[in-house]
Parts: sequence; C-alpha cells; structure tokens
Amino acid sequence: MTPLRGIVLAGGKGTRLGELTRVTNKHLLPVGPYPMVYFPLKKLSGVGLKDILLVSGTEHMGDFVELLGSGKDHACQVTYKVQDEAGGIAQALGLGSLFAQGARSLVILGDNIFEDSLHDLVAEASKFPDDAFVLLKEVHDPQRYGVAEVVEGRIVSIEEKPKEPKSNMAVAGIYLYPPDVFEVIRTLKPSRRGELEITDVNNYYLSQGRLRSRPLDGYWTDAGTLESLAHANELVGKSMPRFV
Ligand code: DAU
Repeated sequence: MTPLRGIVLAGGKGTRLGELTRVTNKHLLPVGPYPMVYFPLKKLSGVGLKDILLVSGTEHMGDFVELLGSGKDHACQVTYKVQDEAGGIAQALGLGSLFAQGARSLVILGDNIFEDSLHDLVAEASKFPDDAFVLLKEVHDPQRYGVAEVVEGRIVSIEEKPKEPKSNMAVAGIYLYPPDVFEVIRTLKPSRRGELEITDVNNYYLSQGRLRSRPLDGYWTDAGTLESLAHANELVGKSMPRFV
C-alpha cells in the first residue's frame, strides 16, 4: 500500500483578519480552547498519520516550532518547511515534494475547521491510490470558494471564486492526492492573482478522470475572515470536532 503523509498548509498573509494578524500568524489565533493550527494537526494525527509536514512563511515559523516542537504532544512527528513568499496553496503544497516522495498526501488548509473525522476518507482512498479526493460542502456564499458543479453525483467542473457560481457546493480545504501531485504542481502557471491555484491541481485530476469527491456531513468553515473566525469559535464552542 502506498504510504500516506499528512501536510498542514499554514502560510499565506492572513490580510483579511486585519489587526489580529499584525504581529502573529492567522493559524496561531485561538479557536475555542486551542490555537487554530491544532485542529488540522489533530485531524491528521487522529487518523494515525505519524509524519506531518507544516508549511508556513518565514515570519512566524519560530512560533510554530515553539508551540508544536517535535510533535510528541500530538502523537506525531512534525517536520517544518518554509514558504518564502505566499505564492499560493499549490506552491505551498509543492514544498512537500521530498517529504512525501512516493507517498500519497492528505492535505489540510490550516484555517479549515470541521467536525467530521477523516477516517472514512482515508479508508475509501486506500482503495483508489491513483485518484485524488476532494470534500464538498453546501454553503450560502459560494463566491468565496472553489465551487464544484456536480451532475449525477460526479464533479464536472471546478471554478475558483466564480462571480456566478454554477452551484453552492464549496470544495473544502481538505484534499487527498496520489504521489504524482508534485509533478502536476510543477506544470502549473500562476493565475491572474499571481498564485499557483489548488483548483488547477484538482482540475488536472478531473480532466484525467481521476478526481473523486465525498460530502462533509458535519459542520465546516474556514476561519480566514473576522466573520468566519467568530463562526469557527461558535461551532467549536458548541461541539468539539471529532479527531479520531
Ligand atoms: O477554505 C477552502 C478554500 O480555500 C477553497 O474552497 C479554495 O478553493 C481555496 O483556494 C482556498 O481559498 P482561500 O481564499 O480561503 O485561500 P487562502 O488564500 O485564504 O489560503 C487558505 C490557507 O492556505 C491558509 O490558511 C494558509 C494556506 N496558504 C495559502 C496561501 C495563499 C499557504 O500555506 N500558502 C499560501 O501561499
């Protein structure tokens, strides 16, 4: 069986949080009783992943190391990799090419807070080691996300932050990729906003007939805006996510 590695992407600029990220990184802000980054980390270690890569920028990497150390308090071993500039989610993931060489990667965006355990995703994906998986959630504001058009249970297109979304199904920031994802990333060109887009990675697998999706049943939110950060705190306050 192709091994599975965990990757948490915690770079980016966090500009949408204004003064809250003036002297710290978004993923170190509190969500309920924990710093935000604990959530993706616990999700990955909760499904038994022992090797986890954390990608972040130069400014606050020291704080992540101070907070997480070797990973021993989270039953995993954390490796750190610096993204010099915020060149996009796919660029950040590309930094994991040596860490996850020959392995599949379970990737979580550091600001995604969600209730479901990743157990069922990991179990299904082990049957399809050459395919990529995305998780979908119905939202009221699809313009903020990658949006999947789904016909008869299959994704037929994904658009990044469309002005006129074809559906209200957001692609969550939780992805499982086969080992060739790093070759795919090497072929990407920056988008109009100058970033390597994760949606282009997902569309590559779609074009190859190698993209599968699963629904997220429990709550899901990002925490990258003041409103969604408050919402994440509210959700976690009511019900702690399932980590195992
Ligand atoms: O939350 C789900 C959405 O996340 C998806 O539906 C979109 O398709 C995807 O593009 C992304 O959209 P956002 O606009 O929310 O992405 P954002 O730039 O806020 O980045 C999300 C996380 O990715 C952030 O918490 C840290 C990581 N990141 C981002 C960038 C741009 C990096 O590690 N490095 C980066 O350069």
